Amino acid sequence: PKILVIHGPNLNMLGKREPEIYGSMTLDEINKGLKELGDQLNLEVETFQSNHEGAIVDKIQKAFGKCRSVIINPAAYTHTSIAIRDALLLLDVPIIEIHLSNIYKREVFRHKSFVSDIAAAQLTGFGHMGYKMALKAVAEIINHAAP
Ligand code: DQA
Repeated sequence: PKILVIHGPNLNMLGKREPEIYGSMTLDEINKGLKELGDQLNLEVETFQSNHEGAIVDKIQKAFGKCRSVIINPAAYTHTSIAIRDALLLLDVPIIEIHLSNIYKREVFRHKSFVSDIAAAQLTGFGHMGYKMALKAVAEIINHAAP
C-alpha cells in the first residue's frame, strides 16, 4: 500500500528554522526515517514538500485513487487554506494531520485548522517523532480496515 506524506511551506528549512520550536532534525532525515519505517511496515512511502499552495493541491489531486492514506503537515496553510481542505475532501482515504509543535500551545491564529474536522486524526506537538507515530497508526488503520 502506498502512503503519501505531504509537507507544507517552510518545512524544507527544518533544522535551521526556529529549532527551539521545530527541532534540529532536517526534512531529509525525517523523510529517510519514514521510508525506512515504511519498509518495515510494508508501506510504500512517497514524500512531497512544497512552499506553494497550488502545487500541494495538484499533488493531492494526483493521489486520487492511488494511495491508501495521506499524512499531511500543511504548515501555515493549515490555518488558511480552503483549497487544500477541498482537495483532501476529494480523497476517500484516511487523512492524518500532523504538526511538529503543539499548535494549541501557540498563538491563537494557529488554533484554527481547516483540516482537523476532515482528518481521521491529528498529532500535534510530538516533534519529528509524530511522523513515525502517524505512519505506525496508518499501518494499524489499514490492517484493520475491511478488505
Ligand atoms: C506547523 C505549525 C504551523 O502553525 C506553522 O505555520 C508551521 C509548522 C508545525 O508543524 O508545528 O509552519 O505546522
